[in-house]
Amino acid sequence: MTVAPSSLEKAAPQVHVYTDKAALVAAASDQVIELIQAAISANNRCSIALSGGSTPKPIYQAIAQADLPWDKLYVYWGDERYVPATHADSNAKMAREAWLDQVSIPAANIFVVPTDTDSPEITAEQYQKSLIESFAATSEDDVPEFDLVLLGMGDDGHTASLFPHTLALNELYRWVTVGNKDGQPRITFTARLINQARHAMFVVAGANKQTALSQVFSPDADNAAYPARLIAPAGELRWLLDLDASQGLPESVARVVH
Ligand code: 6PG
Repeated sequence: MTVAPSSLEKAAPQVHVYTDKAALVAAASDQVIELIQAAISANNRCSIALSGGSTPKPIYQAIAQADLPWDKLYVYWGDERYVPATHADSNAKMAREAWLDQVSIPAANIFVVPTDTDSPEITAEQYQKSLIESFAATSEDDVPEFDLVLLGMGDDGHTASLFPHTLALNELYRWVTVGNKDGQPRITFTARLINQARHAMFVVAGANKQTALSQVFSPDADNAAYPARLIAPAGELRWLLDLDASQGLPESVARVVH
């Protein structure tokens, strides 16, 4: 299986450890707000790709309290479940309820994954086309640089919907492809697209993530077994962990404890 180079072949990521989940959430939301403000100050716009799952919800709720120029923020999803937008498992539903419906962001700035198609493959193709159009890209080789890609990590070492030993890991050219979680289709950014980001930020909490973290930061683990290892952005990579999750880090990994 040919998968992209490991993150360990690039500049060392910044690793920050926070005493508990509440402190982690506060730090993550503060840093996301800072990155949004910096991108808008620099380029008069910010493109952010959101992650799903449970960890980000309180982060999104905190960001919704910020006073930001929402009309300059462009929101995408790094992955989505292939379910209706009203389904309880929808990442877009969670982000809208926690954040986007609470602020004055124009509807045209929100790029949800179109899950009302006849197949996940059609959805992936349509989402990629919407990205190409949104970033005015000239071709699939004109890969956009997201200002920020937010990421979580599962206890199996997956990120976005790049699950261990799945075909999505093999996709080295497309920006968006079909992921597979135990037979359930997902729509996901590829490692290629994520790795063009100016900033990628993992937010990981809980003792159940220790084993996967130890492998992701191990010098010789298998990228296909722990796909979070594939994330090696052109820009800056930050890992924000709570103390419980951080216990899995190899001693050799430098970290800032807050
Ligand atoms: C999703 C996410 C996924 C998530 C991890 C961690 O759609 O589920 O994008 O990659 O980040 O599974 O999920 P928790 O934050 O719930 O642990």
